[in-house]
Amino acid sequence: MRGVRRACSLRSGQSAGDSVVKFKRRSLVAAGGAAAIVGLSAIRLADRRCPRGKIVLRFSHVVDPDTPKGKAAELFKASLTEATGGDVDVQVFPNSTLYKDKEELEALQLGSVEIIAPSLGKLGPLGLRDFEIFDLPFLFDDYTALHRVTRGPVGLDLLERLTPRGLVGLAFWDNGFKQVSANRPLVLPADFHGLRMRIQDSEVLESQMKALGAIPDEMALSEVLSALAAGVVDGTENPPSNFLTQRMYTVQKFMTKSDHGYLGYAVITNERFWRELPGDIRAAAVAALKKASALADAIAQSENDSALDRIANMGTTTVIALSDDAKRRWKEALTVTYSEFRHRMGSRLLDLVGAATGTSLLG
Ligand code: LMR
Repeated sequence: MRGVRRACSLRSGQSAGDSVVKFKRRSLVAAGGAAAIVGLSAIRLADRRCPRGKIVLRFSHVVDPDTPKGKAAELFKASLTEATGGDVDVQVFPNSTLYKDKEELEALQLGSVEIIAPSLGKLGPLGLRDFEIFDLPFLFDDYTALHRVTRGPVGLDLLERLTPRGLVGLAFWDNGFKQVSANRPLVLPADFHGLRMRIQDSEVLESQMKALGAIPDEMALSEVLSALAAGVVDGTENPPSNFLTQRMYTVQKFMTKSDHGYLGYAVITNERFWRELPGDIRAAAVAALKKASALADAIAQSENDSALDRIANMGTTTVIALSDDAKRRWKEALTVTYSEFRHRMGSRLLDLVGAATGTSLLG
């Protein structure tokens, strides 16, 4: 596992190592036996121009740049680059261009990438099943209830559970409330019967789709559009910002504004990378992250609201509002997902979250 990677770039696209090698080659031709000495002075020149070397920080994520997470990642990059005068080379890889959902978690642990911001339930397969609590349907009535968890002792405690996995939890970033979509209207639980619904890798989401009568099918976000287009899956769930930017409106005729579940992120880094950062750089990264977190949380709701308007105006997907009565029927069907979670994970975390949110489904 690698810690801090440094690359001192003298010209864009050229590393310090490259320039030293080239300098040595030129010196060899010009000065014959004196080449080794000239090569050494080239290294010193490179050191003076870039005393510590650039620190490379790769931030991989799976969504579009035009989403709350995509925009927050770009702000993090701009803030950290400015604060360090470019000493940190922040490279953001959106839309699964570097790694897909599961791969990015492995890559972070191996040190092949420095920061990721997976959705919370995706930490479950790492053995951190407590994070799947965020996938419980109708757990949060709104962002205020959510923040009582993410910004309180429960959130802090959850982030600390990443440490034994060689990871550091830096922040929670908001996205939004999920809606369901398919090529037939989804109003009552019976409408889900027999539909293959794409889910993220989460035991809670698996239970949720089964409780609604659907067949859950776990797959990476980057594969969802083509799977929907090919009929490999019939429907899916996501906040509007992802539905819009992943162009799911081109292959889904109906979306129900169900707000039945929350999707948000944990920003995490590799513990060794973080520990080995020079103190001033780490402080600058914390400050940049603070700005990015404030942006993500400030724009999450408006970005999702405007994405939903754009979907409705697109003309390809009919947006259905869920009546209170229909919502009650969903909640009745979904109580089984709560009992399963309680059975699997015990009651402690559920009770703490229930006390913070007042969720009626927690009984
Ligand atoms: C999904 O896989 O649907 C989401 O977790 C993607 C994301 O990161 O918002």
